[in-house]
Amino acid sequence: MKKAFCLIMLATTLLLNSYAVPVQNDPPAGWLKKTTDVIAFQLNKASQTYKPGQNPRSVNPNGTVRLAGLTDWTTGFFPGSLWYGYELTGDEQLAAEAKKFTLALDSIRNITNTHDLGFMLYCSYGNAFRLTGDKSYLPVLADGAKHLAARFNPKVGVIRSWDFAWWHYPVIIDNMMNLEYLYWGAKTFNNPNYTTIANTHATTTMKNHYRKDFSSYHVVDYDATTGKIIKKATHQGLTDESAWARGQAWGLYGFTMCYKNSKNPAFLAQAENIARFIMNHPSLQKNKIPAWDLDVHNADDLDTDGAAPRDASAAAVIASALLDLSTQVKDGQKYFNYAEDILKTLSSDAYLAKPGENQYFLLKHSVGAFLYNSEIDTPLDYADYYYLEALNRYKKIKG
Ligand code: GLY
Repeated sequence: MKKAFCLIMLATTLLLNSYAVPVQNDPPAGWLKKTTDVIAFQLNKASQTYKPGQNPRSVNPNGTVRLAGLTDWTTGFFPGSLWYGYELTGDEQLAAEAKKFTLALDSIRNITNTHDLGFMLYCSYGNAFRLTGDKSYLPVLADGAKHLAARFNPKVGVIRSWDFAWWHYPVIIDNMMNLEYLYWGAKTFNNPNYTTIANTHATTTMKNHYRKDFSSYHVVDYDATTGKIIKKATHQGLTDESAWARGQAWGLYGFTMCYKNSKNPAFLAQAENIARFIMNHPSLQKNKIPAWDLDVHNADDLDTDGAAPRDASAAAVIASALLDLSTQVKDGQKYFNYAEDILKTLSSDAYLAKPGENQYFLLKHSVGAFLYNSEIDTPLDYADYYYLEALNRYKKIKG
């Protein structure tokens, strides 16, 4: 009996040491209760206001809602937010709405011309399956994973992101996010090739997208025949050499998630280096909600009054990624604390909508593509999605 007790204690100690959960010494989070109430109200209203298949994406400058149709890269986020809202609040009505908004995306299973299938299907159908275990969601997920994997070119070692515009074989840092779908698909559909593709894409991206300071380029354009790099550039950042805020967030999230799935220590080192770049960045010392590009503060033409638009979506992705990272390392407290600061700021009146406002989006103040004059200082469906994911992760870690 005594021996069994000692063994259990030893196993528990080993488990706790290998899976370091941050120290929990904060007082109970009153802000989280208030935030959860706002979320339940907004998501219920949104699900009654919008129609399945035409999901709310952002708010136009004239105050009307920009909707995401079935081919829009963001279309999976609203159903995903409803699922995360259900997980956070336990509100069964949200689960029923989430199901309707998810099933309306069925035809995305046939799309082959974009890497965004991870965002579109894993955030919607993936969460539906995760939370319900309902196998009827799987055929759509199987088709999407197959089409995403088919965009991998072994000669280049990466999945092609876009089929449009002037690029040859463009790969954007955002593409790291879609790898989670493949890691999951490898296990669910018993296809180890998906794991190989995800690991190879991450390794190539680590080599070619990152600068010495662990900031990343947005786009790397390859020659599809030789695999050689043609150009390193930006699409949504300030300049080719700048650190577009959401790109840094996608990379941090992506390498943390790749480490979690592969246990490749190189991915963990990359994630921690990216985290250090973000957390030590001079422009984030006073305010942890980044401007839309971290280098915008050095650009006189865009930031002369110190009021560059902030991007809550980047902050939400960073918070979610850091919470994940905090559970993967022994000294995760610093990541947890940083994420908690972001979540408290996003949950303050400065960022979180009041019930009934903001066209029923949760967060205000994100930026889509500043230099295209598109979606500046607006709510965004993916800001809400990653904010909800981060809140769920926060709640689980706090216990
Ligand atoms: N994936 C596109 C964006 O982050 O704006």
